[in-house]
Amino acid sequence: MTKKIAVLPGDGIGPEIVAEAIRVLEFLNADMGLDLSFENGLIGGAGYDAHSTPLPEQTLSLCKQADAVLLGAVGGPKWEPLEHAVRPERGLLGIRSELQLFSNLRPAILYPQLADASTLKPDVVSGLDLMIVRELTGGIYFGQPRGVRALKNGEKQGFNTLVYSESEIRRIAHSAFLTAQKRNKKVCSVDKANVLECTELWREVMDEVAKGYPDVMLSHMYVDNAAMQLVRAPKQFDVMVTTNMFGDILSDTAAMLTGSIGMLPSASLDEQGKGMYEPIHGSAPDIAGKNLANPLATILSVAMMLRYTFGEAIAADRIEKAVDTALDTGVRTSDIHSEGMQKVSTAQMGDAVINALKG
Ligand code: IPM
Ligand code: MG
Repeated sequence: MTKKIAVLPGDGIGPEIVAEAIRVLEFLNADMGLDLSFENGLIGGAGYDAHSTPLPEQTLSLCKQADAVLLGAVGGPKWEPLEHAVRPERGLLGIRSELQLFSNLRPAILYPQLADASTLKPDVVSGLDLMIVRELTGGIYFGQPRGVRALKNGEKQGFNTLVYSESEIRRIAHSAFLTAQKRNKKVCSVDKANVLECTELWREVMDEVAKGYPDVMLSHMYVDNAAMQLVRAPKQFDVMVTTNMFGDILSDTAAMLTGSIGMLPSASLDEQGKGMYEPIHGSAPDIAGKNLANPLATILSVAMMLRYTFGEAIAADRIEKAVDTALDTGVRTSDIHSEGMQKVSTAQMGDAVINALKG
């Protein structure tokens, strides 16, 4: 059966990096008969410009009908003056929520070829392979009430709400334990249970769910310590599971351990395994349209799509190996460039991956 992919390039560097990932998919589609079909939609600032909303109705229904979604990036200075409700980021948050993509897998893997690109010492990061499982449709990102209100004394007060129900915690816990079972069987749950009641409950539910996974070792860590441990000794972690906001922050830190945020893919899955796939980096407006961006995070995101949503492990392995081979040849976009390496453009990096796929 045809596998329908909704393609949402978005803003900034989004269109350039998505174009390279699609070239990779099209190559494999022809080479392996994967039966993939693509349809484009607008999201973020691009959605706003065309339809006055960052998540146009057509885009949402396209995504609901698709088997998987590929997203580039959203946002940019052009749309920053807009009111919150129509900011590009709202398009992204809206689609995560509408499609119930509660489980966000963000792997941080250090390619040995890029050990020099990390700001940390090679022995701290070499061999790094960790997975952050971020809750994506709840917590303070979505909690009500929220807003800015006027106090009696005339002062304004901003407020957001951190909420998690037991069922929301339970399902992300299962996701983390199942992920750990396929890896090194360790889960570290990150919370702030010493201060926030909501994450005290988070900790209790993690302990309860852990009983069903006796082969997985569960530990708990406060988020401030976790941030420190991530840069002190990141290899102690296998799977980290955490709330929406803590996961947002820790995954950027984890990304930098690997040298560049331009390398990291992500998968956001619903309960059935349908997913949206996107690089974890943003729209990088400063380099947009210049053919400078690193397309590897997006290319690795489509490898995750093939693996998690379509069960095409061989095709996914081929992409991951091709990225490795491309790096072996010495090509580097500017974000991962180091002395002696060949500086290449977005499209040239795409070429290098496709050449590696051709073998
Ligand atoms: C991410 C991004 C988003 C988030 C923004 C763009 C809304 O930082 O995917 O990590 O905060 O979730
Ligand atoms: Mg983020």
